[in-house]
Amino acid sequence: MGNETVIRKFVTPEIVYGVGASSLVGQYINTYGVERVMVVSDPGVMAAGWTEKVIAGVTDAGANVVLFSGVSANPRDLEVMQGAELYRAHRCDAIVVVGGGSPIDCAKGIGIVVSNNCHILEYEGVDRVALPMPPLICIPTTAGTSADVSQFAIINDTSRRLKIAIISKSTVPDVALIDPSTTVTMDPYLTACTGMDALVHAVEAYVSNAASPLTDLHALQAIRLICANLLTAIREPDNMVARDGMMLGSLEAGLAFSNASLGAVHAMAHSLGGMYDFSHGECNALLLEHVIRFNYDTVPGRYRDIAALIKTVTPSSSCDECETLVASIRDLRISAGITTTFGLSGVSSGMIPDLAYKAMHDPCIVTNPRRPTQQDIEEIYERAL
Ligand SMILES: [Fe+2]
Repeated sequence: MGNETVIRKFVTPEIVYGVGASSLVGQYINTYGVERVMVVSDPGVMAAGWTEKVIAGVTDAGANVVLFSGVSANPRDLEVMQGAELYRAHRCDAIVVVGGGSPIDCAKGIGIVVSNNCHILEYEGVDRVALPMPPLICIPTTAGTSADVSQFAIINDTSRRLKIAIISKSTVPDVALIDPSTTVTMDPYLTACTGMDALVHAVEAYVSNAASPLTDLHALQAIRLICANLLTAIREPDNMVARDGMMLGSLEAGLAFSNASLGAVHAMAHSLGGMYDFSHGECNALLLEHVIRFNYDTVPGRYRDIAALIKTVTPSSSCDECETLVASIRDLRISAGITTTFGLSGVSSGMIPDLAYKAMHDPCIVTNPRRPTQQDIEEIYERAL
């Protein structure tokens, strides 16, 4: 980890960051010279008014728009295939997506299907996408998933009740127009869940066994920014300093995890999300402290670096370094308002072997710093009930 003799690559889209970046969409439509654009979004983002603004930007640039907003949280294989059908029927030549991780992952799926002319589920795994997508411009409206900069697309395989991960350089968007002002319409709980997702991205990337000096730089800065701004962004939704800090933190976490991958928290959250359709960020927030306990002794120096950046809400009386870090993260999660448990949400012990089996087959488990057995994963789920 961090060994300069190891060769690592670092991929990223073209990024435009700052208040007003979303209004540049028309400029990029002209740059690509496209004429018929599929705009992908979801009902919540449409209600907040962002989709309409982006559509106006695209049409002002002289392109026609086909809107696809049939995307649910945890986007489904069927939605990807419906979107691809609509794209082909209207002979679109580019995709603009405005929204959080769900519409962005769905848009990536649509791009993969229309270029490669196959079913989306055929691309599960690492580096399986042969042909690049049509031009994809992303305008994120949450500070968390960073799907707008990552080489990940997570799609729900509805027949197996399983979230599949498609990880490929072909899923990196062409352009990310990252405008922190779009996040002011998020409600406090969505701000909390997406923000904790971003924190988990940074933590998992930093302890990943595929981390590198470049990803470390972004992961540590992300942890610093998220811990400094999350609670203010939740309590003061219009505070643009906090929203900007969260958006930048999320972006840096995205650059880190896209290139260093993730770990057991995400593998286990994908498994839960596929089976129960829970919020991705909420799952991550509830699992993080338990996975840290499991991993801590494998990479204590890495966790010490993280602990130094996380300000504790209440001083810990524990002299155990691992327990102090766990307490700090739990404090942050509870202060952010994420206080539920998987048990309260309907997960029973009987489901744990199936959940653990699926988590063990998720590509994110490969880069967890400590290699778990299925029994280990079952025990972590049990503790998180
Ligand atoms: Fe995530």
